[in-house]
Amino acid sequence: MNPNLHIYNTPEDTARAVAELILAKAKGKVKQSLPLNIALSGGSTPKLLFNLLASEYVDSIPWHFVRLFWVDERCVPPTHAESNYGMTYENLLKSVPIHDANVFPIQGETDPEKEAQRYQNTLRTQLPSSNGLPKFDLVLLGMGDDGHTASIFPNKLSLLHSDQLVAVSVHPVSNQKRITITGQLIDHADEVIFLITGASKANVLKQIIHREPNFEKYPASYIHAQSVPAHFFLDQAAAGKL
Ligand code: 6PG
Repeated sequence: MNPNLHIYNTPEDTARAVAELILAKAKGKVKQSLPLNIALSGGSTPKLLFNLLASEYVDSIPWHFVRLFWVDERCVPPTHAESNYGMTYENLLKSVPIHDANVFPIQGETDPEKEAQRYQNTLRTQLPSSNGLPKFDLVLLGMGDDGHTASIFPNKLSLLHSDQLVAVSVHPVSNQKRITITGQLIDHADEVIFLITGASKANVLKQIIHREPNFEKYPASYIHAQSVPAHFFLDQAAAGKL
């Protein structure tokens, strides 16, 4: 079986495996007296993980070493039901002792183009740099039913190779504007993991993992960290056709 596939019985088991990975990485950083810089995705899948981190792992994770960024954000206020920051606050941030100074939201309520520039500047000043690019320790990605990841959609594959580190994107169905980090920045991370659960992802995941015809149309198929394949944390439902 592909060593980059980590398959668990339930969404809860899958989320717990990712929580354990985050805990291990954080402990490793503590030994180096360095922060753990994580970029989080939004949507619904991470909620289980966030709730675990805010409950079972609230005392074991060294939160004062954790710095949180976002992979993408919907261009809505943080109080909006679709805000990734808002979802993260409700499921994680309000319940863990992380300092506000270590949380770097994308401001969905401001002008998208200006915010893309502001957030890019924030990443450049707040993250360590290598080869001239800001470097996350870990990027946590989800995948949509259409194979998008971050807010890089199939109709805008150019964002995978954009010179911009942060760009304005548009959801192809809702036309909702998004702010997203681009493929160049994702691939520059030390580690990239996908957390994907549910049967609705199984067909696309099969095409991506097995490089079936047309797999290139899915943005998630292009993602790898530092030319190292991304690791996929999957429940049985999402992995059901592999
Ligand atoms: C977002 C996410 C996006 C998400 C996928 C999967 O802003 O929506 O960053 O990339 O990971 O759309 O979403 P679900 O977890 O809701 O299936």
